[in-house]
Amino acid sequence: MLIIGIAGGTGSGKTTVARSVIDRLGSDKVTFISQDNYYKEHSQLSMSEREIVNYDHPLAFDNELLIEDLLRLKQGQTAYAPVYDFTVHTRYSDKKVELKPNRIVILEGLHVLSDERLRELLDIKVFVDTDPDVRILRRVLRDIEERGRTIQSIHDQYMKTVKPMHEAFIEPSKKYADLIIPEGGHNQVGIQLLSVLTEKYLSGDREWGAGL
Ligand code: C5P
Repeated sequence: MLIIGIAGGTGSGKTTVARSVIDRLGSDKVTFISQDNYYKEHSQLSMSEREIVNYDHPLAFDNELLIEDLLRLKQGQTAYAPVYDFTVHTRYSDKKVELKPNRIVILEGLHVLSDERLRELLDIKVFVDTDPDVRILRRVLRDIEERGRTIQSIHDQYMKTVKPMHEAFIEPSKKYADLIIPEGGHNQVGIQLLSVLTEKYLSGDREWGAGL
């Protein structure tokens, strides 16, 4: 099993890069995992308390559970990831995503390169590097359309936690990447490079697969 980690800031295009690689390789060969599914549970907090949680700190994620699930997949077992509801900042109690063991696993998320234990499980480490102005514009649209947020709440959260945590943890994790893809989903050359490397691994090509 080959595990690819795709990190990058909010709105950088991590998911688009992952989806493009999956489209090229065939979805039957890849298991996709989003670190967002592993946000910690906050149902014990009131709605106003949940709204001020720092969701951009590495400790906002239940990486212990994520690591357990990755190890389970590596052992050829099926894992069941939680499902997160961004509109109410907590996990669905009755929903799980089935993760099947597969030849390729793609894990995408803000902090997949900032946690050393996660990094050790990754065979290929990718950082999607997109300008902050592009990222925040995408985020404004997404948070209003899909996550039920107001422009004022997006502004306050961005200034209070999203930007400082990006600068403290996400941007510095770029140094651990094997491959940096500028402008994410628009970078067809970067996506092709990652896809070709993965295809070579799938075909058992010794030279390309060396060290993976
Ligand atoms: O998809 P993306 O990587 O942008 O998702 C991560 C973002 O989701 C974080 O920057 C975090 O601020 C935001 N988030 C949120 N509310 C939550 C959980 C995460 O706004 N309840």
